[in-house]
Amino acid sequence: MHTSDARTVPADPRSQERLSLSGLDYRVVDMTDPDAARAFARADARGFLDSEPRDENIALMREMMLERRNIGVFTADADADALPVATVSSWVTPMTVPGPAGAHLPLWAISAVTVAATHRRRGIARNLLEGELRAAADAGVPIAGLTATEATIYGRYGFGAAIPVARLQIDARRARGIALPDGDAATLEYLEPDALMAALEEVHERTRRTRVGDIPGWPLRWRRMAGLVPGDEKARAVRGVRAVDAGGGTRGVLAYTLDEVRDEFGADLLVRHLDAETPEALRALWAFAVNHDLIRTVHADLRPVDDPLPWLVADQRAVQTVVHDHGWLRILDVPAVLQSREYRAPLDVVLRVTDPLGLADGSWRLRIAADGTATAAATTEDPDVELGVDALSSLCLGGVSATTLRAAGRLAATARTAEQIENAFSLPTAPALSIWY
Ligand SMILES: CC(C)(COP(=O)(O)OP(=O)(O)OC[C@H]1O[C@@H](n2cnc3c(N)ncnc32)[C@H](O)[C@@H]1OP(=O)(O)O)[C@@H](O)C(=O)NCCC(=O)NCCS
Repeated sequence: MHTSDARTVPADPRSQERLSLSGLDYRVVDMTDPDAARAFARADARGFLDSEPRDENIALMREMMLERRNIGVFTADADADALPVATVSSWVTPMTVPGPAGAHLPLWAISAVTVAATHRRRGIARNLLEGELRAAADAGVPIAGLTATEATIYGRYGFGAAIPVARLQIDARRARGIALPDGDAATLEYLEPDALMAALEEVHERTRRTRVGDIPGWPLRWRRMAGLVPGDEKARAVRGVRAVDAGGGTRGVLAYTLDEVRDEFGADLLVRHLDAETPEALRALWAFAVNHDLIRTVHADLRPVDDPLPWLVADQRAVQTVVHDHGWLRILDVPAVLQSREYRAPLDVVLRVTDPLGLADGSWRLRIAADGTATAAATTEDPDVELGVDALSSLCLGGVSATTLRAAGRLAATARTAEQIENAFSLPTAPALSIWY
């Protein structure tokens, strides 16, 4: 049984001991103490190169942090209200996996990883990350995840890029508009900010259950997407529309801003969040953005790599697509992760997984039955496949194929075995993660 509340999990003793040797105090921060919460929020903002948060923003961040486990690292001589020199937050949340709607795996989500610029490159982040992974494994959570500011940071801890997404840039004039098929019934309505926030949350809560790789959002995220964070002048530019079905139900929502292009009598449309639970709603919202008068370019990030947009416009060359890493996963319990999902083809292989932290290390026999269900267990048999825990983490939701990893030298197996793994692990729709965390 795993814990579903990271806040009940104590600070990792090994990281605590290692950092104490450098005169640093690694501990869970009590967010019920407003001064401690303020110091943590300020350190987090400083770490991410943001300006000093206002009191109203600290209050909102504290509400979010109260729901999470927050670790701070303090210098031994720090005053009671001193800022931590490093931070990390985590919580346990359901991540959708392939299978019937609602199939999920508990994910140890990691956020707010910062180390003060005065204390960088002396091993603090390593202790933060290893501490998170040991704490999650001890709590019985089978997999950890994060999104990264840089793609070079987390591979060393066993994370693999698992959920690629697409950044789309659409030349709206060249696209020559989107013509909706006859019979598309969705209509569009502008939303006031409060209603936009509610619609973003409502639609995401439904779509994330069917979108492999996605996780729930949280109130501060929807508030930010809807432009409701106090003191942010840019937030006042946020506008929203919803796609309404024939019965009046919200089936999709778009939050966006318009950025004037000087001397052109036009603007760029920046998608903040676009979510739709039906193809009709998605088409209607894309048509709204691309067909909008006076728009030069539409920008959208975190779209699924199989977004139908290029197939909606008249000129596909109007759409520039950059696929980039977004969701990073780190398997902690190999059998639990491999057994949690449904597969598309039968398979029987022995995987030799190497894990420098020892958590997922070992040989594992994965048997997938004709109905797509799997069993996985430790074995002493000779391996068919050898790979690192980072590569298995990249593979587990079908975000990359075993053939590609083999070609990159990240997985050792015969071409035939790699192909069989690919057939079993692939998905009809790409995994996707529509939020940063
Ligand atoms: C990224 C960050 C947390 C690293 O903290 P740090 O305490 O300096 O890192 P460590 O000293 O523990 O370094 C651990 C390892 O990561 C490497 N590393 C650290 N930062 C790196 C970076 N930005 N890119 C590539 N490698 C990095 C180190 O070289 C070291 O490698 P090694 O263990 O193989 O020798 C810190 O630079 C930071 O706070 N950056 C700004 C906020 C940020 O981007 N956070 C990440 C959010 S996803």
